[in-house]
Amino acid sequence: MSSCDFLVLGGGIAGVTCAETLSALCPSKSIFLLTASKLIKAVTNYHKVTRTLEQFDVEERHMSTMEAECANVKVIQKIVKSLDTDKHEVLTNDGSVIQYGMLCICTGAKPKVIADNPHVLGIRDTESVQAFQRRLHNARRIIVVGNGGIATELVYEVEGCDVIWAIKDASITSNFIDPGAAQFCLPGLNADKKLADRPIKRLKYTEQVSAPSGATNRASAAYGSALGPDWMVDLEMTGSKERGHRIHVDYEVEVAGIYSPTELSDSGKSATAFEGSLPDDCWPVYVELTNKKIYGCDFVVSATGVVPNTELFAPNNFSIGADGGINVDSTMQTSIADVYAAGDVCNASWEHAPHWLQMRLWSQARQMGAYAAKCMVARSQGADIHMDFCFELFAHVTKFFNYKVILLGKFNAQDLQDHELLLRVTKGEEYVKVVLQDNRMQGAVLIGDTNLEETFENLILNQTDLTLLKEHLLEPNVDIEDYFD
Ligand SMILES: *[C@@H]1O[C@H](CO)[C@@H](O)[C@H](O)[C@H]1NC(C)=O
Ligand SMILES: *[C@@H]1O[C@H](CO)[C@@H](O)[C@H](O)[C@H]1NC(C)=O
Ligand SMILES: *[C@@H]1O[C@H](CO)[C@@H](O)[C@H](O)[C@H]1NC(C)=O
Repeated sequence: MSSCDFLVLGGGIAGVTCAETLSALCPSKSIFLLTASKLIKAVTNYHKVTRTLEQFDVEERHMSTMEAECANVKVIQKIVKSLDTDKHEVLTNDGSVIQYGMLCICTGAKPKVIADNPHVLGIRDTESVQAFQRRLHNARRIIVVGNGGIATELVYEVEGCDVIWAIKDASITSNFIDPGAAQFCLPGLNADKKLADRPIKRLKYTEQVSAPSGATNRASAAYGSALGPDWMVDLEMTGSKERGHRIHVDYEVEVAGIYSPTELSDSGKSATAFEGSLPDDCWPVYVELTNKKIYGCDFVVSATGVVPNTELFAPNNFSIGADGGINVDSTMQTSIADVYAAGDVCNASWEHAPHWLQMRLWSQARQMGAYAAKCMVARSQGADIHMDFCFELFAHVTKFFNYKVILLGKFNAQDLQDHELLLRVTKGEEYVKVVLQDNRMQGAVLIGDTNLEETFENLILNQTDLTLLKEHLLEPNVDIEDYFD
C-alpha cells in the first residue's frame, strides 16, 4: 500500500491544475495524480484578458513532464476500481491500494450518446475525435445531432462531405448564443473557407496519441481528457468528396429512431429525398427525426452534451445534482468528508453570485481545479478561505465561425424575468448585445473585435446605473470609457 497527503483523480484540465496548485502551495506534502491515460492536459500561454476573462492554450503532454516540473507530484497511470471513503483508500484495477489524506475527484464528463449503435459516434475527447477522423475519410454524408459548441465547430470545419444538422432548438448554437447572434454568424456557415482565414493552430500534440490499449477502452473507469477550445484546428477534417461541404439544418427536431437498411425496409418507411446526386437507398444507417424526415448517412455524430463521470462512485452515496454531477459546496467539498471534486464532474451547488453560472467549459475546469487545491490546503492548515473572484462573474472567450465571441454574466438573460436588450450589429463585422435589468447591465455577448469587454465587465460588477446612459451606450462613435474617467 502506498500513501499520500493529497490524491487527485483525473489527468484533464481540472485534475492537472489541482495537482499543480497543490504542489506550488505545499512543496513538502506528497501529491499523487492518478490518470487513466499516459497523456495529460496542460494549460499553457495563460493570460488574463480582463479581471475575470482568461485565455489559454491546452497541450497534451506525456505524464512524466509533470513530475519533472512539480517535484512532489507523482503521476500514476492506473485505472480506479473503487473508493472507500471511510478508510480513505482508492483501489486500482491492478489490485493496489492508495491511501490519501484528502482526495479531489476530477474525472470529467463523457458525451451523452443518443443511441448505442456502431454508426453513432459521441464526440468529447481526443480518442473519439480520432475515431471520427478515420470515419470521415470515407464519408459522403453525415448527420450531426446537437447544438452545443462542439457540434457548431464541427459543422463549420467538416469539408468534402455533406452535413445534415439536426438541432432541437429554433436556432443554431442556442446554449451559447441567442437567435440574433446565430443569424449573424450563419452566413459564415456555407461560405468557402479560405485557408488564410483559418484560425491559428493552438492545440499542440507533443506526443503521438497511441492506439487505444485494452485498458483505456474499458468504458466506465477510463476517462480520456475532454476536448478544449481549439480542439479541431490541428486535425484534418476532410470527407471523401472533393468539393466543399454543403450544410442542411433541420430546426426544432430530435432523433426519433435509428435504423439499419434492413430495419428501414422492414418498417415500410422510406428515406426522404435529399437534394443531391446520391441515391437515398444506399446508406449504412438511417435516422428518423421527429419531423418525420428520414435521412440516410454514413454515420451519425452525437454531440448532445455531456454526463459527469460518476458511475464509478455510485456505491459511495455522494450527493448528486440534477445534472448527474457530484454536488460541491462553496469550498469544493463533496458531501463526504475529505473528498473534494472539481471540473466537469462536479455540480457547483453553492448559492451562485448573481452574474455567475456553471457551464462545463475548460475555463471553469481550470478555475475549479485551482480553487479546490487552495481550499484543500486551507483546510489542512486550519485557515479560512474566500471564494475566488472568478466565481463572481461568468466570463468566457471562444471562437465561432472564425469570430471572436465573448460572453459575460447572464449573457442569455438566464433566469432574468423583466429585462431589456440593447443591440448593435454591423454585418460581417460585429454583434453586440447587452442585457439590462432595472437599467443595470446583467450580461453581454460581444462578437468580433469590439474592445468593450473590460468596460462591460466593470459595468456588470459595479451594477452601475445606466438610466441616463443607455441611449448612448452602443453608439459606435461614443467612447463609453470617457463617461467614467
Ligand atoms: C449507500 O446507501 C445504501 C442505501 O441507502 C446503503 O445500503 C449503503 O451502505 C450506502 N453505502 C455507503 C458506502 O455508505
Ligand atoms: C446542478 O444541480 C442543480 C440542482 O440539483 C441543477 O438545478 C443545476 O442545473 C445543475 N447544474 C448544472 C450545470 O447542470
Ligand atoms: C467599477 O469599480 C472599479 C473598482 O471598484 C473601478 O476601478 C472602476 O472604475 C468602476 N468602473 C465603472 C465603469 O464604474
